[in-house]
This record gives sequence, structure tokens and C-alpha cells, in this order.
Amino acid sequence: STQRAYWKESVVYQVYPASFLSTGSGSQPGWGDIKGITSKLDYLKDLGVDIVWSSPFFKSPQVDLGYDISDYKDIDPRYGTLADVDELIAGLKQRDMKLMIDLVVNHTSDQHAWFQESRSSQTNPKRSWYHWQPAKTDADGNRVPPNNWAMQLGEAHSAWTWDESTQEYYLSLFTPEQPDLNWENPDVRAAVHDVLRFWLDRGACGFRMDVINHISKEPGYPDARVIYPDSRYQPGHEHYANGPRLHEFLQEINAKVLSKYDSMTVGEMPFARDTTEILKVIAADRKEINMIFIFDIVNVDDDPFRFSLKQWKPKDVATIISKWQTDLVQGGGWPSIFLENHDHPRSVTRFTDDSPRYRDLGAKLLALMQTTLGGTLYLYQGEEVGMKNFPLSWDASEYKDIETVNYWKKMQDLSGGDESKMVEAKRIIQRKARDHARTPVQWSDGPNAGFCPENVTPWMRVNDDCKEVNVAAQAPGHQNTLKDASKEQGGGLKSSISKAAQKMADNFAPVGSSLGPVVPTHSMPIPSSEGEPLSVWQFWQRGLANRKAHKDVFVYGTFEALNVSNEDVFAYRRVGEKEAFVVLLNFTGETVSLDLPEKPAKTSKWVISNYAEGPTDRALQGKITLKPWEGLLGTAA
Ligand code: NOJ
Repeated sequence: STQRAYWKESVVYQVYPASFLSTGSGSQPGWGDIKGITSKLDYLKDLGVDIVWSSPFFKSPQVDLGYDISDYKDIDPRYGTLADVDELIAGLKQRDMKLMIDLVVNHTSDQHAWFQESRSSQTNPKRSWYHWQPAKTDADGNRVPPNNWAMQLGEAHSAWTWDESTQEYYLSLFTPEQPDLNWENPDVRAAVHDVLRFWLDRGACGFRMDVINHISKEPGYPDARVIYPDSRYQPGHEHYANGPRLHEFLQEINAKVLSKYDSMTVGEMPFARDTTEILKVIAADRKEINMIFIFDIVNVDDDPFRFSLKQWKPKDVATIISKWQTDLVQGGGWPSIFLENHDHPRSVTRFTDDSPRYRDLGAKLLALMQTTLGGTLYLYQGEEVGMKNFPLSWDASEYKDIETVNYWKKMQDLSGGDESKMVEAKRIIQRKARDHARTPVQWSDGPNAGFCPENVTPWMRVNDDCKEVNVAAQAPGHQNTLKDASKEQGGGLKSSISKAAQKMADNFAPVGSSLGPVVPTHSMPIPSSEGEPLSVWQFWQRGLANRKAHKDVFVYGTFEALNVSNEDVFAYRRVGEKEAFVVLLNFTGETVSLDLPEKPAKTSKWVISNYAEGPTDRALQGKITLKPWEGLLGTAA
């Protein structure tokens, strides 16, 4: 059976520090800070989080919000100091939690000392730390880049940036301010290993590795296949994603650094679709990295890039999830579960219906799905209260992300004054932009949603619905305002679970043998002490507790997709050594009915529904009806 490991069972919570919580301890008012993260550790512990992964808080000009790093071993003053990070790590340790670092080493900032040296002259010893190439000349004698690769965040631009002073191009796959490191150079690799050691020795447990499958470029930088005949530049990932020396570089990191620590790694691998290729990176016996983020689901409505609205069906999501749930584990790898991060719009908007009528149900449906799938679970800040995309009515001046801003500019250039084209662009942005994940976390219904003090303007606008949707309204015991949070900071470790939450947890989290009636025999929601139905936050808290109490099934068990005669219902069975569960998820706003095959889907009891009244009287097999956006969990007979 599957080997156990802390990194498989852990619940990881991603913080986007600029938008998490601003205590005013950083250098920039209205900007989140590290003390803000530290002040919420009891909150995260109470939710059921084990590991905090923070997006980069290192020194950075913030062209790409920290994914352009100018010093890997220092903290950006906007976020605080190294001492603040030490305090964060200590606070996590006290609570038996861990910190995962965001490692961005495919590229640096153009302000990094390495690049400053590299660009200083063609003969500088660090010249070969980056990808420099002479210009080419086109048929008309004009200077052109070395090849036709497009910039990923630049739309319409070349991936190569011209350097006037040394008269060569350098490769910059994301923005001109993010030059790609040249991993062919062993000194570059040694410098990267040194960064990893620095953070592991400081107490980090491991790394989320940014675009890690881009580090090996095809020698000679061949032209990309033409996909967009009208564009000058083409997606070139066939020549730089999963490149020829990727495995060698990853094995080297593992042998020289990772294997010396009890570390955990998750690789970001865009354009990784092929099972065999993926398993070469994550199969345990390869000694590369533990797991990756596969983007098939969050790309389900891309065509093939972000700014389009491709139609998708619930069946597509079900098929993708089922495939990775089985293939990765069978191949000796390990899945990661996630629907959100800082690069994608909000899941409740994207995969369900975020209108007032269905939003809570939708968020809970996705929580039920994620907490019952196999693999390591990643939750993104705000997802636990069902934060949604900001509305269409926002002015374009609210878009802060470089990718959105570039897209908007491009569409303005292309529209030739045609307003309807801009209306369409706005509609696409409202569905797909990265900005939606970056609005400040809604902590309360107070000024600035409790993200920063009243007299300060947050760096990004707070979503309009913060009065109704916020942590204070949903999480018992976490009504504290910013002021309380700063008071608490000096006060040491507080009891992490409020009385009300503790009572609910006692009710719910089963104790003892996994053979007994380990799932509560009463239905969701278990009324809180006030007799209120469960909030989205409470549903997540309960779901995470449930997942841990039954980890043999939900984390380590096998996954079987069920054929249930209705394509809009995602149905599966999770099977452990001693118990098994059936999950039915209705991905539509309609009442649906389906035939539940007796074998292997027979249930002995439905125990959880995302509806306030619980599963009520429902058939255990045969014909079953699900309400709009309803999810059911049952014990398998
Ligand atoms: C992926 C990161 O998640 C994204 O935010 C960033 O823009 C690119 N990598 C480049 O670092």
C-alpha cells in the first residue's frame, strides 16, 4: 500500500502576502505584511491547515507581484524583515505547522545583482548566467529577435528583450523585467542550491517551485510552430517546457539538497499533460520532486491561453480529475488537489454559480469535492469563505496585474475604437483575470473589510460583497478586528479553537477505531451552538477534520469513478482498507435524477449534504434525485 508521509496528509494553505492582511508593519501602507500572516496562525490552525505556503515575499521591484526576485535571501521591506519571517516560522512550529517557500528560479528580476553584472558587458563573468543571443536580420534588413517565441505575460510581444548597451537580446519568457537564468551553467545551479539550503536551514519545510519545468531550454532556441498565423510571435513552450535536461537538473537538486532534509516539493508545471512525462518528474523512485500542479482543470476554459471563454462541461472536469486520481498513484506518483491559486479566478464563480441564490451551495460543493479526493490538498486564501470574482462594473483602472493590463492594452490597440470589442474584452477579464484572486481577503464587514486600517487605501480594491461575505461572519471565534489582531500579537499562543468551534469539532471529528461508525450518523449541517446552519467556512473546517479522521480513505484510499447515467453528476467511490465512501456532485443548477448502480455504489447511509437540511430521506441505490448544486457523501455498504 501507499507509503505514508507528512506532506501527503497535510493541508496546505496558500497566502498571497500582498492581499492577506496588512498590520501596518511593512513599509507600504495598504499592502499585506508578514506580521499579518503570523497574526492569523490560530485562525489557520482552527480551520485545519498544516502548512502555509506563501507566495514570494523576497526583495522585488514587484513588476510581477514578487515573482521577479532581486534578492533571494532578503525580504521586501513592503512585507517586513527577515526577523519577521523567523517569527512566522517560530509561530508555525509552536502550533505544529510548517512553512513552504515559493522558489522562483527559472528567472530573476532584472534588478538582481546577478543580472546587473550579466548585462554590464559581453565579457562579464556572469554573462553566461542568462540567455544572451545576437540579433537576427529579416528580409528587409531590420533587426529581429533570435526566434519567434512569444512572451507569456506580454501578449503580442517577443520573449526576447533587446539590450541597447551591449547590443544583444536576452531571453525573458514572462516580462522584460524577468530574465531567464541559464541553467546550462553549473555556477547558476550551484547558486540556486545555495538558496534552497538557506531557506531549509532557516526552518522552511520545502518549496513550491515556480514554472520549474521551464528551466531547460532546447539548445539552439528553435522557432516555435505557428499556431496563430496572424501573430508575429508564437507560444514556444514546445521548446522550453519539459526540456531535455529537466530531469538531470531536478535529480541534482534532490541529491545535493532536498534528500538531506525532511523536505517537501511541489512543482508548478504548465504545459505538462502527458502522464509518462509527468511521472518522470514525480514517481518516487525518480528522486526528483514530490508532486506537481497539473493545470488541466484550471485551464478547462482556456483556448489555449487565458483570455478566452471556452465552453466546458461538468463531464470534462470529472474526466480530468478521474484520470489524474488514478494514473498518478498507479504510476508511483502523488496528486495535488486544488481549484484556486493567485493565477486563477475564483472557483465558485468559475465552476459553479456565484449568484446570491447558489453561491454558498456552490462553494460547499467544491469543498466537499476537494476534501474527498486523494492527494495533498491546497487551499487558497479566501476560498474558505467562498470569495468570488469582482463584478463586471469595475473600471479597467482597477486591474493591477501586469498580464491583465497588457491584455487590455493589446485589445485597445486592436479594437480600433470599436466599443463592442472592449465590452467583450471586459467580459473575458471578468471571468478569467488573475486579479480576481488578488483582491484583499475579506476578514470582516468593517472598513476595508478588515484588511487594512480605515484611513489607508488598500493596494487593490476590496470586492463589493465584503459586507455579506467575510471571515468574521462565517468563522466562530474569529470576529476579531485588525485592532484585536495586533493586541493579540504580543500575547503569545492563544487557545486555537473557540468554544463553539470546539463543540462542533467534538460533535463531528470521530474518535477511535476506523471500523466503527466513524462518520457522524447525523447529517450535515450539525447545528452550531446557536442553531445556525453551517457557513462555507464551517463546512470547510468540518470537511478538513473529516478528511483527516478518515485519511486512510480520503488521502490514501483508491479512487473509482462511478458511471451514474447523468453526465452532469460527478460520482465516485473512495475505498480504504476498512471503510469506503460514495460521493455524488451535481454540477448544475437543475434538479437532476440519476441511476446509482448497485455495484459498487450501494450506500448504507447518506451522511453529508451541502444543503442546510442535510441529506434527508434519499434512496440508497437505484433512482436518486439531487437538488441544484447538491453534493452528497455516503458510507458505502
Ligand atoms: C507562475 C506564477 O505563479 C505567476 O504568478 C508568475 O507570473 C509566473 N509563474 C512567472 O513567475
